[in-house]
Amino acid sequence: MARSPRWRELDPRKLSPDARRLKEGLLARVIGQEPAVDALTTIHQIWRSGLADPNRPIASFLLLGPTGTGKTRMVEALAELLFNDRRAMLKVDCAEFSHSHEIARLIGSPPGYLGHRDTPPYLSQENLDRHQTRENPVTLLLFDEIEKANDALWMLLLGILDKGTLTLGTNEQVDLTRCLIFMTSNVGADHFDRLHDSPLGFQRGVAAAPPDMAQVSDSVLEATRRIFSPEFLNRIDRRIVFNSLGTPEFKRILELELGYVRHRVRKRLDVDLKATPAARKWLLEKGTNPRYGARPLRGLLESEVLFAVANLIGSGQVVEGDAVQVDVRRDGGGLVFRAQHASLAAAASRGGGGATGAALHPIAEPLEMGRELLPVGSR
Ligand SMILES: Nc1ncnc2c1ncn2[C@@H]1O[C@H](COP(=O)(O)OP(=O)(O)OP(=O)(O)O)[C@@H](O)[C@H]1O
Ligand SMILES: [Mg+2]
Repeated sequence: MARSPRWRELDPRKLSPDARRLKEGLLARVIGQEPAVDALTTIHQIWRSGLADPNRPIASFLLLGPTGTGKTRMVEALAELLFNDRRAMLKVDCAEFSHSHEIARLIGSPPGYLGHRDTPPYLSQENLDRHQTRENPVTLLLFDEIEKANDALWMLLLGILDKGTLTLGTNEQVDLTRCLIFMTSNVGADHFDRLHDSPLGFQRGVAAAPPDMAQVSDSVLEATRRIFSPEFLNRIDRRIVFNSLGTPEFKRILELELGYVRHRVRKRLDVDLKATPAARKWLLEKGTNPRYGARPLRGLLESEVLFAVANLIGSGQVVEGDAVQVDVRRDGGGLVFRAQHASLAAAASRGGGGATGAALHPIAEPLEMGRELLPVGSR
């Protein structure tokens, strides 16, 4: 009697090598947002396995949560990993479309209308396909601040999410079934203030447990149900509430951002940029806070470090082969810069650390632009 072959137990959570690479790449770039990374990795795996619905966009995400916590950065990181360019996406700032006629910038105007042909519509097929590669035939389409969209833009969004097509002013059809659509919104983000504003959890003299992330996340989702229509919410595949960030995450983000600055300097001149622990502390205090997250950090690094180093190079105070140390002024009111020639720096560290050697941490190498970074999907 023939015996039926044994059933093998399978693990549906196991990731393909491609998906694992994507996940690791996202985790290394976007700090403290593991649930969001997991959701993206899952969708990526569904798409790569060919199981996404062919009659709709590959997937749509509503990214929620406080400002400066990595919502936009997540999409940029995905662009870096897929196309080696963080700007390889189409981005629509919904706040710029507060009047109905402005929608023509996205879809063009009908023939015969004033301005027809003046500017090609932003959401043309050509633009949508622009960044696609053979390995990654996908378009990242980001609608920022969708709560600010006007009615015309809403109708357009609903159509895209539902059918994966769009009709231009010229009546041409645009195919959006190869799009990953991201929509960001700060709706309900004020609930996060409760995490920071009531550290002791006291309300009107009554002891109350401070809200935790899960509670806040529920409140944010509840707020989206009040603001957005059910027909819109039902068309979205994933709603993701980003975590509010704290000091451990800010520290890691600072290292990443310092790495990018170092890389920009290095591209210009062989100069090794280092920051003392005091400088890092100063940058963290000035560049991050619960209200704006890590958003101010990049601008601060540009104005306080990058521009200063540019001046030091321009004025010849820093030359090829120097190590530049960023430190805090004695009065704490700003940063100071010191240079040391590389051969001396190397000798100092061989000698067990010079005057400043022990306190210096090298700045981590940037993740982007690394030659070893193969776009996900290419083998
Ligand atoms: N989780 C994070 N990981 C790494 N960098 C981050 C993160 N959050 C914020 N940053 C830094 O802060 C900057 C601003 O973040 P981002 O643009 O992603 O904010 P956002 O969540 O989209 O905020 P908003 O709601 O105001 O648009 C990023 O460019 C990056 O430098
Ligand atoms: Mg954003």
